[in-house]
Amino acid sequence: MVHIRPGLRGDHQQVRSFCENTFHWGDYIPEVYMDWVTSDQGRVLVAELGQAVVGLVHVDMPGATEAWLEGMRVHPDFRRRGLAALLTQAALAEARLLGAGVARLAITKENHASHQLAYRTGFGLLGELEEYAVSDREGEARPAVRDDLETMAHLARTKSWLPGRPVLVGAGWRWWEASHRGLEKLLDREMLWTNGRAWAVLDYLEFEDDEIVILSPTGDESAIVALVGGMLSQAGGGKSRARVVVSARQKVAPPHWEGPSEWEHIYERWLDEES
Ligand SMILES: CC(C)(COP(=O)(O)OP(=O)(O)OC[C@H]1O[C@@H](n2cnc3c(N)ncnc32)[C@H](O)[C@@H]1OP(=O)(O)O)[C@@H](O)C(=O)NCCC(=O)NCCS
Repeated sequence: MVHIRPGLRGDHQQVRSFCENTFHWGDYIPEVYMDWVTSDQGRVLVAELGQAVVGLVHVDMPGATEAWLEGMRVHPDFRRRGLAALLTQAALAEARLLGAGVARLAITKENHASHQLAYRTGFGLLGELEEYAVSDREGEARPAVRDDLETMAHLARTKSWLPGRPVLVGAGWRWWEASHRGLEKLLDREMLWTNGRAWAVLDYLEFEDDEIVILSPTGDESAIVALVGGMLSQAGGGKSRARVVVSARQKVAPPHWEGPSEWEHIYERWLDEES
């Protein structure tokens, strides 16, 4: 009999034991698990079969009404028994308790099982993110200040790749709506840059030593190109490349940007009384 319950500190070793080799490069879960269970911003749920922990998922709340699901894992010996579907249902119920009206998650393109799982549990594809490598340093950019918020929120709505609502902003693998409040959160972390006509997030993710990561550039193409060049020269600290993540629907593709290559797909599910 499967039992879904909150994850505990004491589950760490069991979680580590079945997560160590999830992907060809290993897994990040063993490193973040203790932070997740001790944080009061989200919840870890685990699936227990007998006395053994055989699955987990983390529900985070990047916005007051927006949930982010991540870290879905099922022990390799217990897959295709409906555990991930059960964990998703429980995570959505938890998200509602935490005040969410919508839940989102991201899946890399080649993770076929997870795309199926997302559709199976009522999520719809929201956007396909792509990345470009940019080494051009021409352009202007400066850290955004509070007075920029109004203009940035306006651009988030009018230049949105999502019909009828603001773009999503990303930071540290999570995405949420670029509402005034959503942007303010990034401003407080000094992650927003602008040139008045476009804005973007300078993420603290580090894939390669010699590059910076820029997410959610928003504005017209020419303004974005100038902003990215400016960010590389101003914020890059001598780094030679920017990794820029855009939505495929934005159709921002200047000839001197190298790419696109696939980043990840974002899914969304609105939460109603049933979820
Ligand atoms: C993805 C994962 C969590 C699925 O866990 P699971 O417990 O086996 O999934 P479930 O049994 O609940 O499957 C629910 C549905 O998901 C889909 N699905 C799950 N595994 C699948 C697979 N290997 N191939 C195709 N579809 C799959 C199916 O639609 C399935 O419904 P069905 O069995 O009725 O056809 C598990 O394979 C895993 O831990 N993978 C490695 C980690 C990972 O990729 N996590 C997600 C990162 S975004």
